[in-house]
Amino acid sequence: MGETSTISIDRMTKEDLDQVLAIEQASFTMPWSRNLFLSEFRNAPVSLMLVARSSPEPRDVIGYIVCWIVADELHILDLATQAARRRRGIAHHLVLAALKYGYERNVRRAFLEVRESNETALNLYERLGFSRSIVRKGYYDLPVEDAVVMSLEHDGLQQLVEKETESEHDK
Ligand SMILES: CC(C)(COP(=O)(O)OP(=O)(O)OC[C@H]1O[C@@H](n2cnc3c(N)ncnc32)[C@H](O)[C@@H]1OP(=O)(O)O)[C@@H](O)C(=O)NCCC(=O)NCCS
Repeated sequence: MGETSTISIDRMTKEDLDQVLAIEQASFTMPWSRNLFLSEFRNAPVSLMLVARSSPEPRDVIGYIVCWIVADELHILDLATQAARRRRGIAHHLVLAALKYGYERNVRRAFLEVRESNETALNLYERLGFSRSIVRKGYYDLPVEDAVVMSLEHDGLQQLVEKETESEHDK
């Protein structure tokens, strides 16, 4: 789906699940189970699951994103990168790849929920142009915490995808 000098982005396969689950379990207090990921594989074409791999070899999974695309909306459900590889733009590339894929299939709005204490993720999404919309009280467990709903509306999404497409052409 896309390649930079250090990572490539592809569809997740069932063979990736051991590596995905290792990152998931290291990243969240309530990680998704193997069965939950497997149910997403059965949920095509609604579910979009991408992995970032180290490139060239050994092509380990170093991050992933799971989204739902319903009509013209894309909902980011799960995103994590390997702890040792953070702050290198991997999550940024994964979100961009998902948004671009969606935009090419008529997505015109994207949103997600994030823990209000998760400054890292809030910064990541704000840098991409998402803005905070509403707060869902007590949305999370372990620990109980409010969720900030963030959204990227039509114009912001279009600008982001066009900028990304131009920079790909310049390479
Ligand atoms: C949030 C997460 C996915 C970011 O992954 P990443 O690959 O490190 O993100 P990137 O390198 O693409 O960072 C993009 C931007 O996010 C923000 N960001 C990333 N790490 C940050 C940190 N430790 N502190 C503050 N901002 C941070 C910055 O704006 C960064 O841009 P910059 O490096 O140019 O300043 C990763 O930290 C993670 O897996 N966390 C645990 C799971 C999680 O919280 N998932 C998100 C749920 S909504």
